[in-house]
Amino acid sequence: MIDIHTHIIHNCDDGSNSLKLSIKQIKNMIDKGVTDIVLTPHYMNIYVQTDAKIINKQFKELSEATADLKVNLHKGGEIFLNPGSNYKIDKKLCIGNTSYILVETNMGEFTPGVYELLFKLVKKGFRPILAHPERYNYIMNNPEIAEEFMYRNIYLQVNAGSIMGIYGQKIKKTAWILLENGFAHFLASDNHCRTDEYILPLAIKAIRNRIDDYTAELLTQINPKKMLNNEKINYFYLKKQPVKKKGFFENILRKL
Ligand SMILES: [Fe+2]
Repeated sequence: MIDIHTHIIHNCDDGSNSLKLSIKQIKNMIDKGVTDIVLTPHYMNIYVQTDAKIINKQFKELSEATADLKVNLHKGGEIFLNPGSNYKIDKKLCIGNTSYILVETNMGEFTPGVYELLFKLVKKGFRPILAHPERYNYIMNNPEIAEEFMYRNIYLQVNAGSIMGIYGQKIKKTAWILLENGFAHFLASDNHCRTDEYILPLAIKAIRNRIDDYTAELLTQINPKKMLNNEKINYFYLKKQPVKKKGFFENILRKL
């Protein structure tokens, strides 16, 4: 099991508030069968710690403190995409040595300019993964917008907590719609270290019961493994792309 979205680096964001807690959480995750953890602190204007130097220092400290444990830690970030963001998005914010980058944006209203920002990243060779699309109001109201992101070469990561209903029924329903339609490439915990209960195995079990073993494996092992190896992952795996003729702009995007 590979968890690609966590807030376990201590004293960086609204996740872990101590090195001790980070180590405890990592040990718990190992016990539950996690082999690789991607550490994705928020890069957001409200956190002073968007300073990469601080995050690098804390990551090093955590890596050294857990060096004897049987787990691989990978550094990434959860990058808030906004036309007003005050930090530069460069390859150092990608996951490990890959081109994959975890992003989020405004969960309420659709932010004008987001498609353009994402397109700029795709053109530069980034492979953006949109964190928890099921929590976005406009996707809850119209889940097909998730598919629109996929046409724009954006991967989608559903939260385990959404599957289990911890953010409410509407988000839970949307999460299942995304999974059942093939509008999800990853399932991750988004672990903020607020509880001892590690939710990813519970969500995997729920997917095995409601969909199948393969989907659970695809989202938590097969695709994450490919991502860590910087291999390309298929955007469409369940629903066929319609054969209707696409516009010039969309054809260019698909070739990237
Ligand atoms: Fe997160």
